[in-house]
Amino acid sequence: MQASLFSHVIDLSLDFFSRNRTGELISRLDKDTDAVVYGLEAIVRTIVVSGVLVLMYGFLLLKTSLRLSLFVVLAALAQYIFIQLIKKPTQRRVREQFGIQAQVTSYLQEVISNIRVVKSFAAEDYESSRLQRLSKQAILAVFRFGFFKNVDEPVTFIINSLVNVMVLLFAANEFISGRLSTTGFFLYLYVGRSILDPITSIARSFKVVQTTVATSERVQEFFDERALVTSGDLVKEHFEDEIRFDNVSFAYGIEKVLRNINLSIHKGQMTALVGESGAGKSTITDLILRFYDPQSGQITIDGVDLRSLDLPAYRRMIGVVSQDNILFNSSVAHNIAYPDDVPDMARVRQAAQIANATEFIDKLTDRYDSLVGDRGVLLSGGQKQRITIARAVYHQPRILILDEATSALDTESERQVQEAIDNIIKDTTALVIAHRLSTVIHADNIVVMEAGRVVDQGKHTKLYERCKEYKHFCDLQFGAASSFNPREAQGAQG
Ligand SMILES: Nc1ncnc2c1ncn2[C@@H]1O[C@H](COP(=O)(O)OP(=O)(O)OP(=O)(O)O)[C@@H](O)[C@H]1O
Ligand SMILES: [Mg+2]
Repeated sequence: MQASLFSHVIDLSLDFFSRNRTGELISRLDKDTDAVVYGLEAIVRTIVVSGVLVLMYGFLLLKTSLRLSLFVVLAALAQYIFIQLIKKPTQRRVREQFGIQAQVTSYLQEVISNIRVVKSFAAEDYESSRLQRLSKQAILAVFRFGFFKNVDEPVTFIINSLVNVMVLLFAANEFISGRLSTTGFFLYLYVGRSILDPITSIARSFKVVQTTVATSERVQEFFDERALVTSGDLVKEHFEDEIRFDNVSFAYGIEKVLRNINLSIHKGQMTALVGESGAGKSTITDLILRFYDPQSGQITIDGVDLRSLDLPAYRRMIGVVSQDNILFNSSVAHNIAYPDDVPDMARVRQAAQIANATEFIDKLTDRYDSLVGDRGVLLSGGQKQRITIARAVYHQPRILILDEATSALDTESERQVQEAIDNIIKDTTALVIAHRLSTVIHADNIVVMEAGRVVDQGKHTKLYERCKEYKHFCDLQFGAASSFNPREAQGAQG
């Protein structure tokens, strides 16, 4: 169940992961599936074992005395009615308890993965007290659920005792009045009592059913989620001409982040996106990768709408270095070759060479076999960034997207990586986003963005002359005079 929920969830589109906290996902994948499976196991076990016993004893009872058997039916009925009465509140409490457990998991996950922030702000006490507050809520939830979980024991005990007494009295009465033989009397006493245990077990398993229904609803909610972005059928493995945005508008939520975007990324060219923070540059790359689909307008590659393409094949054409350089907790080689199970070492080395990463990798204890730690914590920011660049070029993508790919590098490394990138870019198509204009000044097309719009596009010199927003950026970074000359501009940046 966990495996199938995982493969369902991992196929969902990015909006799902933005809506849900990581801890909530982990909790449902782990605790809830566990509870469902445990519940199902308990139900099946009880119903099989106790069911067989009830049938056997029931047969004996009916053979002995029909009238007395009615008491047992009465006991079963009373227990059933009681369980029905507490059904709804039990389910509510189960949901409450699992909900709060998921909150605790989310909280723990967040604090532990941000431990550096916690420590640098000396926030250990603050976080501990936050956890205590959450724990208090969790304890209350456990108590409330505990009431419904355990209330049936005394109730069924009382019901069973009453029935026992009645069975005894009536059996005695039947015996005295001669309607029941001596053997019948003792058989009845023995069987009449014995059947109550499996009946109680079955009644209790109804309670487990409630718990299981409630947790399985939580699991089912995720199974019911549908990916907004779905794969088409057309398998396209070559990029021939251009990626085009036609009047594309997009919002993550209600507010539009991109408005009527028109742009083209031509094969073999370097296209640059520049603009202030929050202008929507990374969002453009999200749409190219089809993490999201535009609400209006169309994105096409070689004239084909992205929505009709086979998604994995399409995405494999693209290599990405995104703004957050997250690595997996495995070896350098595995990170570069991700998701290849067996890294092709020749290509790994070549990719590392391009990313200017060989020098520091060679200094690591186990070189390409060195582990990088959780999310790459054992490496420096610039080293991580170079591994992510190597990862993006390892698969020899047709289109390379670099979102602030050299931002964490020192000037010398940046220059070297930039040269290497320029070299690959010669043979491929690149979309480059950079705040440092010197890295994009030679681009074939510079797209200037502001507040979700494309304000202008063209080559540096032309843009500098006619686009006041672009001129403003250049002047801020290079000083007013030098920006006309790209060569000088690069010098000025260094
Ligand atoms: N997952 C998301 N959900 C909701 N809003 C988002 C999401 N990601 C980005 N945004 C919003 O979309 C807008 C554009 O963000 P985007 O990341 O594209 O900017 P950017 O141009 O790449 O900025 P920067 O240069 O700082 O990286 C921002 O206002 C941001 O708040
Ligand atoms: Mg960005």
